[in-house]
Amino acid sequence: MPSTQPLTTIPTRSPFVLSADDEYQAWRRTKLAATGLPDMVKIDTLGELSSAERKRLLLTCEHRNFVPFQVRGALDDIEEQLRAFGRRIGLLEIDQNLCAEDSGVTAITVKETATDNIYIPYTNRPLGWHTDGYYNATDHQIRAWLLLCAQPASEGGESELFDHEVAYIRIRDENPEWIKALMASDAFTIPSNTEHGEEIRPDHSGPVFSLSPQDGSLHMRYSARQRNVIWKDDPLTRDAAAFLLDLFKYGDDHIFRYRLQAGEGVISNNILHRRDGFRDDPTIGAKRLVYRARYFQRLPKAEET
Ligand SMILES: [Fe+2]
Repeated sequence: MPSTQPLTTIPTRSPFVLSADDEYQAWRRTKLAATGLPDMVKIDTLGELSSAERKRLLLTCEHRNFVPFQVRGALDDIEEQLRAFGRRIGLLEIDQNLCAEDSGVTAITVKETATDNIYIPYTNRPLGWHTDGYYNATDHQIRAWLLLCAQPASEGGESELFDHEVAYIRIRDENPEWIKALMASDAFTIPSNTEHGEEIRPDHSGPVFSLSPQDGSLHMRYSARQRNVIWKDDPLTRDAAAFLLDLFKYGDDHIFRYRLQAGEGVISNNILHRRDGFRDDPTIGAKRLVYRARYFQRLPKAEET
């Protein structure tokens, strides 16, 4: 369940407050100075993360909001190891969603789901830009996730990753009014979801960008899918949404492409991401299998450890 920690007030001098331009400019410079895919952190045993490995992961995430990692040891009992890995990092509030096995760790692979709707993650189709849990209610927002690839596809299945804080910068630099529009509590609405004739999720409106009441960090809810999202019908919101689509279309030097190999993964503060379509070839054991865990809390800062 989400944290019930007491709420704090958002500082007025946060870089995410439009009137705090000095703070924004200083933060922006540091943020954009970090370029290239962050160095991959090597981990000896997934379920027994060492203090040094943990620190490297968290330090990178503090600045970049994501980090790739590679497990050197064997991947036995992967779901249990992955849960232990998350706990050791400090991620305790795991989400058990609609399609998660009991553990909260989901095997993402081409499979039949016992649902009326087709869920693209469980097909070999491309998956568009999104943050995880964009359809969740405000008090169940996903603030971190981790992925671990057990087996890549025969062909394709590459990921793209984009720190949502850099997306914020691109939008604010273009038009700060768009940030205001995207922070409105009715910026976009996710229509209700029905399974087996029963509504399992009501309509849900919310902001695209919001600041965490716990620590003032920037959170993003987003899906590039046209069918599943109803954008607020006003010019600023529409233009901001169109700008984001253009950004994805024409590219950005902070968007990174990476094809996860077996034993490689990513941890993130729920940044923007997408996936290419792929082709499996089970006859040679190349059936894409990626494990995912989602959390209701952000990664801790390295010094909080
Ligand atoms: Fe995702």
